[in-house]
Amino acid sequence: MASEPQQQASPGGEPVLSGPGQDSEFLTTNQGAPVSDTDHSLKAGERGPTLLQDHHLREKIMHFDHERIPERVVHARGAGAHGSFISYGNASELCRADFLKPGKQTRVFVRFSTVVGSRGSMDTARDTRGFATKFYTEEGIFDLVGNNIPVFFIQDGIKFPDLVHAAKPHPDTEIPQAQSAHDTFWDFVSLHTPAQAHVMWQMSDRAIPRSLRMMEGFGVHTFRMVNEAGKASLVKFHWKPKLGVHSLAWEESQLAAGADPDFHRRDLAEAIDAGAYPEWELGVQIFPDDGSGVFEGIDLLDPTKFVPEELAPVQPLGKMVLDRNPENYFAQTEQVAFHPGHLVPGIDISDDPLLQARLFSYLDTQLTRLGGPNFAQIPINSPDSPVNDMFRDGFHQHRVPKGIAPYKPNSLDGGCPYMSQVLSGQQPPLDFPQPVASGKKVRSEPASFSDHYSQARLFYISLSAVERAHVQQAYSFELGKCNDTAIRQRQVECLAKIDTQLAAGVAQALGLPAPAAVQLDDPVASPALSQIGKAWPVDGRKVGVVFNSGNHQHVPAIAQALAERGMSPLLVSASGGEVAPDLPIDRTYLTARSIEFDALVLVGPLPPAPDAAVALDAKAGALGAGGVPIDPRVALLVAEAYRHNKAIITLDGLSDGLLQAVGLEDDAPGIALVELSAVAESAEQLLSTHRAWERFPVAE
Ligand code: HEM
Repeated sequence: MASEPQQQASPGGEPVLSGPGQDSEFLTTNQGAPVSDTDHSLKAGERGPTLLQDHHLREKIMHFDHERIPERVVHARGAGAHGSFISYGNASELCRADFLKPGKQTRVFVRFSTVVGSRGSMDTARDTRGFATKFYTEEGIFDLVGNNIPVFFIQDGIKFPDLVHAAKPHPDTEIPQAQSAHDTFWDFVSLHTPAQAHVMWQMSDRAIPRSLRMMEGFGVHTFRMVNEAGKASLVKFHWKPKLGVHSLAWEESQLAAGADPDFHRRDLAEAIDAGAYPEWELGVQIFPDDGSGVFEGIDLLDPTKFVPEELAPVQPLGKMVLDRNPENYFAQTEQVAFHPGHLVPGIDISDDPLLQARLFSYLDTQLTRLGGPNFAQIPINSPDSPVNDMFRDGFHQHRVPKGIAPYKPNSLDGGCPYMSQVLSGQQPPLDFPQPVASGKKVRSEPASFSDHYSQARLFYISLSAVERAHVQQAYSFELGKCNDTAIRQRQVECLAKIDTQLAAGVAQALGLPAPAAVQLDDPVASPALSQIGKAWPVDGRKVGVVFNSGNHQHVPAIAQALAERGMSPLLVSASGGEVAPDLPIDRTYLTARSIEFDALVLVGPLPPAPDAAVALDAKAGALGAGGVPIDPRVALLVAEAYRHNKAIITLDGLSDGLLQAVGLEDDAPGIALVELSAVAESAEQLLSTHRAWERFPVAE
């Protein structure tokens, strides 16, 4: 008897559709008939024309022709991972959500994304990152659809199409891909000045993360949490990464765009494969729901504003660990459908006008992107809790509903399904009875929304000198790529309302006159905003161990010691092969590029390999400074790591003179000369502060 599709659980716990699927032992047609040959079409003779009757050929090509679905209109490029959220169980005063109760463990799927680029664009573009988490709770799905920047460009969702049209490639040339360094973007943000706060974050190192594992996440909007007693509080969600916030150098992000466009998704997948499971704490900033929507003078309904942690500390509610890579990119990472309106009892929205528009937008776009109204049935989107929605039919209906009365009230199905409170005895859980703010229909905004600059200034002055220098260079680079002088000038005038020195520095780089000084307030800095000056675990950080075939005997012990301390050694030698059984050489001088490594261990001597010729590998044109012979590709590797402030470890008695041979100081910050036995300890210590920022000091 033919079986109908049924929901089962996969090893990871998520529902999968069984029945007709990829489960035959032999190749079949779409209809399950055996296929004996998929290499040749059916033809009228060996050299004759192909026959229309070849159903296998037509079915195979038809399916292939329709493999692509529309990519997301924004956030098209993403990487995902499965994991779980473990509640600390301390939220009862705040929120009645079941998944926050003591001891609760909830399955999650996370999708990280860039915003502007197409699905095939590079990972390391300067851009905001999406950080969307699907919690499969016992009370239904909760989606926290956030970003790695706590403020947004616009204050009202009606401006979203304008923003995205300005940020996407120019309509005439479709250039540039995945970049904000172009005229239409800067035209918009310099005119629509609520964007200035977000743009400041985007010009900071936050927009070029070293790893998806090293990003903070923010719910951005203010949400409402309600406890069992019906008491409401306003909250802002935060994800805090265990590894700390860390970023690429701008040159690294540009190099990676060519050398490894999959830099971030590779890093995420490899870390999970290596058992270095990424971790975040979920926390909330809590504000009284007193009807004002304002905290310490900051409008909580304005999504271009954040609340400094020093004013409202982040209270941790639980921990998320990502421990499983997707089994299939398309089925899971591509087909997942997040929605800020996917809420559970105890979590509600606020009146933030950006959030309100998002509540419409996601369902609407997914209807097209996923080809009909039944995408909640796709396994990655199916809740773990039972569903009885009385929805029927539609494209791609997989359920086989029972009963004859999908309407309410009914008597024919015994009045089923009942309303939830009939069974639970509780009040309806959703829809908190929040009073509405005004009785008048208006197209306007509160006066507090008109402050577009003070928080851009607060963020900027809270950064360290080296981070501020990066911001200045980022503005200079991006505006330097704009062709229209009026746009550059207008943005420099916006900067003058944020910081006089910054505006003057950018103007100087662009060859423009410094704008007239503006009287600026001096807000209290928020040290929590800087990513420098702290120490972090080194789990999964990549350490390149560079050697050649003549000195490989030291390498197994170094690799083992690094791995024992949680780092991921990558072995780099003159040519491929194995150093020992099950210890393969990961990269050669030809295939390695410095962007892949957080630190280098140089196991010298490292003389030029036989293929160190410019005709074979243009990198071999890199020049050393002389002294001991060194392969020019290694010289380039070391020089790049050095100028990107990375740790470089040399070995006493083996690597003598190597750094001088590349023209570098061997006593600079972040450089260590150690015994073999101390390599791993030294790498851990140097990597814990992420980079040796003090190598190239910046004047305060
Ligand atoms: C605070 C502001 C916003 C944040 C944090 C945010 C975040 C995100 C994230 C993380 C995604 C990717 C989801 C995924 O990985 O599948 C996304 C997609 C999307 N966002 Fe937003 N977004 C914001 C504002 C808006 C606004 C104002 C709109 C429209 C009014 C909008 C429309 C969309 C659309 C259409 C998608 C594609 C969804 C899909 O195809 O599945 N977003 N957003």
